Amino acid sequence: MAKEKSVFYCTECGFETAKWMGQCPSCRAWNTISEERVTVFAKTGKRSSKEEVVLKTIADISLTKEEKCSTSLAELDRVLGGGIVPGSLVLVGGDPGIGKSTILLQTCRNLGEAGKQVLYISGEESLKQIKLRADRIGSFRDCVKLLCETNLAIIEEVIRKEKPQVVVIDSIQTMFSEEISSAPGSVSQVREATAVLLQLAKGLEISIFIVGHVTKEGTVAGPRVLEHMVDTVLYFEGDRHATYRVLRGVKNRFGSTNEIGVFEMRECGLVEVSNPSEYMLNGRPVGENGCIVTCSMEGTRPILVEIQALVCKTNFGFPRRQANGMDLNRLNLLMAVLEKRLGMSLGDCDAYVNIAGGMRINEPAIDLGIVLAIVSSFRNRPISEYVLAFGEVGLSGEVRAVGQMASRVAEARKLGFRVCVVPASCKGTLTEQENLRIIYVANVAEAIEALL
Ligand code: TYD
Ligand code: MG
Repeated sequence: MAKEKSVFYCTECGFETAKWMGQCPSCRAWNTISEERVTVFAKTGKRSSKEEVVLKTIADISLTKEEKCSTSLAELDRVLGGGIVPGSLVLVGGDPGIGKSTILLQTCRNLGEAGKQVLYISGEESLKQIKLRADRIGSFRDCVKLLCETNLAIIEEVIRKEKPQVVVIDSIQTMFSEEISSAPGSVSQVREATAVLLQLAKGLEISIFIVGHVTKEGTVAGPRVLEHMVDTVLYFEGDRHATYRVLRGVKNRFGSTNEIGVFEMRECGLVEVSNPSEYMLNGRPVGENGCIVTCSMEGTRPILVEIQALVCKTNFGFPRRQANGMDLNRLNLLMAVLEKRLGMSLGDCDAYVNIAGGMRINEPAIDLGIVLAIVSSFRNRPISEYVLAFGEVGLSGEVRAVGQMASRVAEARKLGFRVCVVPASCKGTLTEQENLRIIYVANVAEAIEALL
C-alpha cells in the first residue's frame, strides 16, 4: 500500500526532518528547510526480484584495464584524475552562469571528434539556444547528439536504446520523475534522478556528467545534496567580474582531490590557462607598498599569487577588517599575532586584504605573505617585486614548515623571482640555486627584519 506523507528536507545538505525548522541542525544554514510530499510504500519484507544472490570474493573479480579517456582539455583531465573513467558519475557544480554548460559542450565536441558516442541532454535550453552556444565555441561536426527533455523515464529509455559512451545531463534540478509527487528541483526529485543515472552509469558502463546549480534560495536543492552519491565532484568557481574560472576537484574516487584546472572565459568559449602563475601575476603594481607575492600548492601544482593589503587609520571606533579570497578569521588571527608578538598597534587600523585576481586560497602557507603585506602597508615601505615569501605562521609568531618546498621554489625561479623567504625548519630540503637567494626565517620578526 502506498500512502503520501510530508517530509522536510534541507535543500543545502539533504538533511531530513519530520517538522519545519528555521535552521538546519546538520549544516547550520538558515531558511533552507522545505516541505515535500513523498509517497511511502509499505514494506512487504520480500525481495521483489526472484534472482539468486551470488556472493563473490576479491579473487573472483577479473579486471580489464581501465582506460581513462582524455577530454582533450588538459586542465579538465587533471581534475578528473587523468581523464574520464568509463561508468563514472561526475557532478559539475557551480553558480548559474559560471560556464558549466559551456565546458561540458566543449568536452562533448572533443569527445565526439575523438570518435566517442556522445549524448547531450538539456532540460534548460532549447535546441536553438544550444546551437547558438555551439556556434560561439567553434565548428561542430555531426558528432554530438542532442536531446531536450526533462522526463526521467524518457531519458532512461533513450539512453538504454542509444547506448552512448558519454552522457551530459544539464541540469539535474530540471529533471523529474513522474513517480515522485514533489516538484522538479526538490531534494527527493534530485536524489531519485541521480539514483536512476547512477544505475545507468554502472549498469551500462556509461560515463555521465551531471550539472548542478549552486542555489541561493531554499526551494531548489543544491549539488551538495548528491555529493555522496556520485564518484567525482567538481566545482566551478570564479569571480563573475573576472574572466578566469577555476575547476576544483572536491571528491574523486579515481584520482587525487584538491587539483584545480584554470580556464579563461573568452568570446569563443573557455580557453585553458596552462600557466596560472603567470596569469595571476599579470599587471601587478611595481614598487607599491602592501604587496607581496606568495605561493600556494593547489594539488600538485604550485601557483603564485599576489597578496595586497591596505592598512589605514580607522575613522570609526570599531576597526574594519575585510578579507577577499581568504578566511577572515585567519586574517584576524594573523593581525592579533602582529599586535601581541611584535607590539604593533593595529587596534585602531582598518585592514583590507585581497588576493589579486579573485582566486580563493585556504592553504596556511600564504600566512607569511599576508603578514608581510600588512606590515609593508602599515609602515608604508614597499617590498621588492623580486621577493616571494611563504610559510605558515603560528600563534607565537613562529614560521612553520610547509610541504613541497622544492616545487614552490622552482616555480618562483621559473617566473624570475630572485629572493625566496622560507621557513627555517626547511633548511636542508633545498639546494642552493643560481640567481636565487633563499632566506630562512624562524619567526615573523626575522622575516620583517630581512625585508622591511
Ligand atoms: P554557461 O555555460 O551558460 O553557464 P552555466 O551553464 O554554468 O549556467 O555560461 C554562460 C556565461 O558565459 C554567459 O555569461 C556568457 C558567457 N560566455 C562567454 O563569455 N563566451 C562564450 O563563448 C560562451 C559560450 C559563454
Ligand atoms: Mg547552463
